[in-house]
Amino acid sequence: MPLELRTARVGDVARISQLHADLWRVSHAGIFDADFIEDPLEAALILHWQEQLRGRKRPGQVVVAVTGHQLEGFAHAALVSGIAQIDHLEVREKMRGRGIGRSLLGLLAQRMRQDGARAATLAVPAGREGLPRFAKRFGGILGPVVQRERLGHAMPERSIAWADITRLIAACAN
Ligand SMILES: CC(C)(COP(=O)(O)OP(=O)(O)OC[C@H]1O[C@@H](n2cnc3c(N)ncnc32)[C@H](O)[C@@H]1OP(=O)(O)O)[C@@H](O)C(=O)NCCC(=O)NCCS
Repeated sequence: MPLELRTARVGDVARISQLHADLWRVSHAGIFDADFIEDPLEAALILHWQEQLRGRKRPGQVVVAVTGHQLEGFAHAALVSGIAQIDHLEVREKMRGRGIGRSLLGLLAQRMRQDGARAATLAVPAGREGLPRFAKRFGGILGPVVQRERLGHAMPERSIAWADITRLIAACAN
């Protein structure tokens, strides 16, 4: 089954929420409390993705990578004051290391540029291993740890910033 990259549709809400919850149950176990991770997490993510894909309140894009009916990854950015604020970039664990993350990031950055973004940021949980290497690989500047609010929980994050979004698009193409 070939990999397809495309804009997400309302019909993708369930698949995105499910994969997102599966990944965050592992990666955010130390950040969200155990009770929240069990059930409310998936319900909160369904609401979150419904908002992004249905009643969009602010400009932005969601892109997905699929093989047939299987969702392999997704990425989201909001457009705020000319900046593409990328707040999710996730690839199914078994499918990592095959260029899917790079393709999703590149497609998202291109779409955001068409929508008027001049610069870009990517928010990543602060403790993630390999973050400096990832930032360097894509030509971005890694910022300090800041507390952000995600699904009603405080989360330490760092941002990778690109003053010129075309730099990110070019890095994704290489
Ligand atoms: C980060 C993530 C999206 C990368 O997806 P992927 O499909 O494995 O990435 P790719 O195969 O497209 O790799 C693209 C480049 O990023 C680098 N890279 C990928 N994951 C990395 C990591 N965790 N740390 C450092 N560099 C990484 C690769 O070495 C590769 O470089 P190359 O093109 O020079 O070989 C994926 O590992 C993931 O979902 N991680 C959990 C969520 C997360 O951390 N999201 C925030 C983004 S940093």
